[in-house]
Amino acid sequence: MNQKAVFDILPDHVDGSRDLMIFGHFLEHFHRQIYGGVFDPGSHLADENGFRRDVIEALRKIKTPIIRWPGGCFVSAYPWKKGVGQRVPYYDKAWRVEEPNTFGTDEFVAFCREVGAEPFICTNAGTGSPEDMSDWVEYCNLEIGEWAAQRRSNGQAEPFGVRYWSIGNENYGGWEMGAKTADEWARLVLESAKMMKRVDHRIELAIASIPDLDWNVKALREAGDLLDWVSIHGYWSRASDEGVFEKGYENLIARAFQPEERIVAVKHILGSLGYLGKLRIAFDEWNLRGWCHPHFMMFGPTDHALMDANDINSNYNMADAIFTACFLNSCLRHCDVVGMANFSPAVNTVGAIYTHADGIVLRPTYHVFDLFANHTFDEILHSALASPSFDVASEEGTATSVPRLDAVATRDSTTGQVGITLVNLHGEDAISCRVRGLDADRYSGATLRTVNGNAVDAYNDVDQPDAVSIAEGQLQIADVSDFEIECPAHSVSVLSVS
Ligand code: AHR
Repeated sequence: MNQKAVFDILPDHVDGSRDLMIFGHFLEHFHRQIYGGVFDPGSHLADENGFRRDVIEALRKIKTPIIRWPGGCFVSAYPWKKGVGQRVPYYDKAWRVEEPNTFGTDEFVAFCREVGAEPFICTNAGTGSPEDMSDWVEYCNLEIGEWAAQRRSNGQAEPFGVRYWSIGNENYGGWEMGAKTADEWARLVLESAKMMKRVDHRIELAIASIPDLDWNVKALREAGDLLDWVSIHGYWSRASDEGVFEKGYENLIARAFQPEERIVAVKHILGSLGYLGKLRIAFDEWNLRGWCHPHFMMFGPTDHALMDANDINSNYNMADAIFTACFLNSCLRHCDVVGMANFSPAVNTVGAIYTHADGIVLRPTYHVFDLFANHTFDEILHSALASPSFDVASEEGTATSVPRLDAVATRDSTTGQVGITLVNLHGEDAISCRVRGLDADRYSGATLRTVNGNAVDAYNDVDQPDAVSIAEGQLQIADVSDFEIECPAHSVSVLSVS
């Protein structure tokens, strides 16, 4: 297929500034994310706090800026006060397992500190009250009062200074414990935000949101001035009730730009309510793959064994890498409104890192985070991409068209170095991209780093940890103002020009 893409960069026009928090992650008390994931006191790989050293190192390498916790659905009946001081196991009504409760607020904040990430606490707006939520802020951030005293007596002399908080998780959904109507939601948000910000006015507050005007209108009209973020979620591929994950590459990448549609829809809602520029989007749960927890809504026993399907590494391949790169490109393109995103989850389930007794496996999505977090820059340069497209089968089996190539140009506002993301979505063919517009007097050298495997279904596992990895090479470019670069089939690259 002899088609080319053309990427014109206008370096004199900066579209906006990237917030590093788009490279954030999420951790929920679900299956092996916390226990046997990040927290494994019995492991020979754990540090003195019980945290897995290899996981911490991997999260540090991708500059994890922020971690959301403790859920997810789990939080909507989470009694946070039982997770500090004296610990008693209790029954987790979300996932219907016994919660050992040995990882609570103190452990979460300590884990974030070891990773170098900001803690982002999602509060219980299901069964919880404004008082519970604001007591939690007291526990974390105050020097005075009952909850600060509790923290001190638990051995934490200094306030944690947790800046990022969220009221609720998906409280619009019937699956959530303590789900709310839009009217109930507006009232709860107002009272909770008021009390939380009275405890500490420096905190930044998000609320559970969705691209639906009716859900947002009352909450934002009543409490919008007390808020900083709207939190939205998205998963675009569901495992079957038997625990089988979707495999068709084209069928999966057909959804690569659906997150962007969601961003635009929420942006319009914020605009229509007069909050564009004041509230930003925290896309604080996202992943191509939904988590496998079949029969979640049914009463009676849950088949927990089916959740083990999440841990099959062959489920996660180049389709996941391509989708992840397109998602991050969409956040970069909409940097005026997307200020945070949290890959769901960080560890195990459908996450970027898989833990086992003797180490970790870095799934293909991890390497995309490595590329983007370490090799893109803060300024988003104005650009125009002309790419051929191709037809893929959509979810419904009908053809849909996706671009062969997706690209974003970034620049370091301090050093002037440029980082161009290049995603070739095509499963079989390479594509050549003509890049124009960079100053030939300013730049001379280039390094190309590419995440790829030998096939669309390539994956990493314990016995093949590097089937998908990052290849790096220096490029000789005669004229940086107008050159061509070859992007291999099903690949994610960042071209660094300096
Ligand atoms: O499937 C995981 C769940 O997805 C999270 O707990 C919830 O927030 C979302 O609906």
